[in-house]
Amino acid sequence: MSDAALDVVEFLLTTSVYSDDRTLDENDLPPSFRRVYWTGGVGDEDGSDTEGGTGSTRKPAGIDRPLSVTTTTAREATGVDRPWEAVSELMFTERDEFSGTITLAQQGMAEEWFAERVDADRLLENPTLAKHFERHDDYEFDVTHEAARERNRPIQADRVWIDGLLNEYFDEEDDEEMLDLVEVRAPEEVDMSLDDLVLTEDQQNELDKISKAIEHRDYLADIGLREIGKLLFVGPPGTGKTSTAQALAQDMDLPFVEVKLSMITSQYLGETAKNVDKTFEVAKRLSPCILFIDEFDFVAKTRRSDEHAALKRAVNTLLKSIDNISLIDDDVLLIGATNHPDQLDDAAWRRFDEIINFPKPDSGMRADILGLITRTMDIDEFDPHLIAEVTEGLTGSDLRMVLREAVLEALTEDRTTLTQEDLLNAVEEFEERDTLKNMDMMEGDHDALVAGGDIDKASDGGHSHDHDHDH
Ligand SMILES: Nc1ncnc2c1ncn2[C@@H]1O[C@H](COP(=O)(O)OP(=O)(O)OP(=O)(O)O)[C@@H](O)[C@H]1O
Ligand SMILES: [Mg+2]
Repeated sequence: MSDAALDVVEFLLTTSVYSDDRTLDENDLPPSFRRVYWTGGVGDEDGSDTEGGTGSTRKPAGIDRPLSVTTTTAREATGVDRPWEAVSELMFTERDEFSGTITLAQQGMAEEWFAERVDADRLLENPTLAKHFERHDDYEFDVTHEAARERNRPIQADRVWIDGLLNEYFDEEDDEEMLDLVEVRAPEEVDMSLDDLVLTEDQQNELDKISKAIEHRDYLADIGLREIGKLLFVGPPGTGKTSTAQALAQDMDLPFVEVKLSMITSQYLGETAKNVDKTFEVAKRLSPCILFIDEFDFVAKTRRSDEHAALKRAVNTLLKSIDNISLIDDDVLLIGATNHPDQLDDAAWRRFDEIINFPKPDSGMRADILGLITRTMDIDEFDPHLIAEVTEGLTGSDLRMVLREAVLEALTEDRTTLTQEDLLNAVEEFEERDTLKNMDMMEGDHDALVAGGDIDKASDGGHSHDHDHDH
């Protein structure tokens, strides 16, 4: 029997049990199942009226019983292409030709069939069935409903729930500017994990500290320790600030709310202060979540210069909102990031309780990063330490670029196995590129950019600080 059949039977059983047991709620359904049935905006958990709602026409959010299974819903939920064909041979399944609904003619038989083919680990992924089999005297799986609930991601982290929330807060006209200013990603959509990153010991310690703080936030609230949970990531471009924030979201299964401050431009100024406010409200409703504010130096720049009054208002709203949000009270972890710590003024610094440094990687780290990003590649005579030696000053992002270059270069020769030589060539290529980039930014270098000028010559002749080439 194929896995496809098992998947579809699980779906049929789950929908059937869920439809009958009214004590189950959406957090008892695995995310891929409930996604199919979730309708409307977001329910009012606290019963109070939320502002910004679109009025009485909105359907109350939730999952309506009974859950009916059709080819379409089954395909969407299980990813099985032809769900009916996958289970049509089984004696206990049935399809109504007219409506296309698939049902279990014999639920008991289906349970037995299913129980013979799954283990406790799989049941723990499905709280609805975990509860059902836990109670059933005929089966002795080592599972509890509670354990499965704990393992299952809450609906607040699902894309459908997030979309519902955003629709509730921002109507159509707001959409465009909001999309520029804030982006919300469900943890399932973040494809960065802590395993993909090489962190310094210091970074690792700080992240461990914050994970522990999140885990024990009730205790911290009890002892009145509230000034915690606002981190500032400081470091040059390409050192992993954004990636680390995303990886934390994935690691802790939290939605990732990203604010791009440079998008607060004069273009939409009238609405910006309001939208900044809304962004923080959204973060609170999404909580627990990570609120990531990139390009934080923008704040200081705006306060200093003689910017438009509306822009200053927007930034002041932002600072006030930051003051009013808390990890302990609102379950929102705030992470700011900047390439220009020197531009931050006291007002900005003061708002963060931990500063985490993202330096350019040293030789050992570079070797580790190279090891990581080449994990799935074939490289003959690969010596990451040697490459690390010749890539002084390069960031993780630069190293990725070097590798990409080497891969593409090898492909031009139809090779998918690289050599150490390829990598060394790509490093050299990268440094030429880098020289070009720097020339562009420096005054007085323009004659070096005249056609026919050779890059090596330009860098050797023009700058005494450039290393000598031995040719
Ligand atoms: N320490 C590292 N370990 C592994 N990969 C890294 C590391 N640092 C950077 N990278 C890789 O480099 C790329 C860029 O990193 P990221 O966008 O996180 O940098 P950043 O610090 O946010 O840069 P910017 O300041 O320009 O926003 C990512 O693909 C990331 O995986
Ligand atoms: Mg970044």
